[in-house]
Amino acid sequence: MAAPAPVHVRGEIRVPGDKSVSHRALIFAALADGQSVLRGVLDSADVQATEGVLRALGVAMPPIPPRSRRDAPDGEMRITGAGLRGLKAPARALQCGNSGTTTRLLAGVCAAYSFASRFIGDASLSRRPMARVARPLRAMGARVVFDDGDGLPMTVTGGPLRTLRWQDDANSAQVKSAVLLAGLVSGVPVSVEAQRPSRDHTERFLTALGADVRVTAAAVSLTPPESLRSFELTVPGDPSSASFFAALAAMAGAGAIRLPDVLASPTRDAFMHTLEAMGASLGQEAGAPTGIGEPTVTYTVAPRALRGVAIAEDDIPAMIDELPLLACVAARAEGETVITGAAELRVKESDRIALTVSNLQAVGVVAEELEDGMRITGGRGPCRGRVVTRGDHRIAMAFGILGAATGGEITIDDRACVAVSYPDFWSDLARVTGT
Ligand code: S3P
Repeated sequence: MAAPAPVHVRGEIRVPGDKSVSHRALIFAALADGQSVLRGVLDSADVQATEGVLRALGVAMPPIPPRSRRDAPDGEMRITGAGLRGLKAPARALQCGNSGTTTRLLAGVCAAYSFASRFIGDASLSRRPMARVARPLRAMGARVVFDDGDGLPMTVTGGPLRTLRWQDDANSAQVKSAVLLAGLVSGVPVSVEAQRPSRDHTERFLTALGADVRVTAAAVSLTPPESLRSFELTVPGDPSSASFFAALAAMAGAGAIRLPDVLASPTRDAFMHTLEAMGASLGQEAGAPTGIGEPTVTYTVAPRALRGVAIAEDDIPAMIDELPLLACVAARAEGETVITGAAELRVKESDRIALTVSNLQAVGVVAEELEDGMRITGGRGPCRGRVVTRGDHRIAMAFGILGAATGGEITIDDRACVAVSYPDFWSDLARVTGT
């Protein structure tokens, strides 16, 4: 059977608000003094988990406005902060759903309180490693107890904490943020060293809200302030969500997709630049920086012949969540793509190395697992078959894009799991492909 005709794309997608910034905006608004005003907070299951946990900790959290009203005046969230020491003992377990960011960042916050906080989550989250966050919090003086192994349920009982200088071997923004938040709320200086810079939204929030933060190539150090000021923020578009449509446009037969007001922090924009290095046409217009000083860009992406690329350890942190998608683009790029230094992918919402490779093979692509990455051989043949997501939103969307780019013969076993980060993904995809 011949391969179907390549897809034509058109139009503009205003992708929903950045997930990492949305989590942090809710947390910092809850810890600030006075009223913060947020616009464009991502309305998705992961951010709703953070919203729910903060409510359980006594913060008067209004509901996140639905995305359809994101630019309207009633799309605003006005949050009155409880202050750094104003959270209340939760009456129930803290349900974190599928969200590692909710768990790890709020474990840092709760470690500074003497009450017990019990973190629970779904099956995927309960399998993910939490020792990486328990270790530094214990070193600060908190009690962190697992029911079993080093996954959820996890109970954190804190109190006054000690100052800490921590070396984070996982190179994780979530661990770094947990330590910074524990130091912030308990009022003790902390610093976190890591081999490579990870996303820096927490540091940027802290600086913008009046804290003394020092950042070097090797470490982030915080001298905590007495209190945090409230703030106003419009959350920019999520580069991880925008990447799906950039990839689709790059692989399409014709057309272009415009992606306005996307967060373009250097700790998050590596996928866009990799797509350009692979040959895609990438237009960029700089936008206004966000209220916490992060750059934004409007991208316009159009197809051109793509070639394979080599991605190594140093390139990984700024595109960690986009690697399954990169593997799908590599399936249509000439030559071989090799991704190494990405062992962290094995402990994301799924084992993203094993699952990406087995799904590529299932739809007819030549791909091989490496211990810390994968090797993909690009081609122009048909892609057809059934993709198993194991409830991992980014696997569903990456293969949704590969399916759309190659004629719609890929079926996804669980399309609904996109609700974790991008509930309108399938309707936005239908709109730009005219299907
Ligand atoms: C996130 C950090 C990253 C990323 C995750 C969100 C964050 O994980 O994969 O989706 O908001 O801090 P790491 O903890 O591995 O950096």
